[in-house]
Amino acid sequence: MKAIGFVGTPRKESNTVLAVQAILDGAKERGAEIAICSSRDLNLKPCQACMGCAKAPTCVIEDDMLQIYDQLESADVLIFGSPVYMGQMTAQAKAFMDRLFAKLGPHIAPEIKDKFTGKKLIQVYTQGAPIPMAYQAYFDLTAGAFGHLGFDVIDTQVIAGMPDESTQERTDLINGLKKVGADLA
Ligand SMILES: Cc1cc2nc3c(=O)[nH]c(=O)nc-3n(C[C@H](O)[C@H](O)[C@H](O)COP(=O)(O)O)c2cc1C
Repeated sequence: MKAIGFVGTPRKESNTVLAVQAILDGAKERGAEIAICSSRDLNLKPCQACMGCAKAPTCVIEDDMLQIYDQLESADVLIFGSPVYMGQMTAQAKAFMDRLFAKLGPHIAPEIKDKFTGKKLIQVYTQGAPIPMAYQAYFDLTAGAFGHLGFDVIDTQVIAGMPDESTQERTDLINGLKKVGADLA
């Protein structure tokens, strides 16, 4: 089993990276192959709506998304993480999600063949607001969009009441997320 994590955050000491890493660590302890990337370390441009992906085998923007497509192709599970900014995912996370359009499938253009059907996805959101349900409608909407891309959204982890400092001290939280990862493998 191969699980990859993507986190759309500008922060180095990121709550969301720690949360996604904990899920991956749990999967790794059960033998999974794992990888994680953060938008902070990537050159990821937003979709240009050029429709080059309808004519080429993949997105025609030459940036780090090309290697993420390769990783996704061989992955069984995507752990998608974003902090909540203004009630939604970050701009960095949205850029990543929009770029998945290039693999949306032949109903967009016959040449686009690499739909994500069969791959599982876990959404991970961290937020300052203490009430986990505060943005549930948005998380459900986004799960639907991932479903449209072909993913099987199996879980949404909402980590509420996060201060801007690191989550590392919260062993209860980290252990719970590791269990989520262990259950994947
Ligand atoms: C620009 C900005 C907007 C934010 N908007 C919200 C928000 O609408 N609701 C909320 O609960 N938290 C909000 N937060 C808090 C972050 O979601 C929270 O601190 C998150 O854990 C940060 O994740 P990171 O450490 O992975 O970057 C916002 C933070 C920033 C910097």
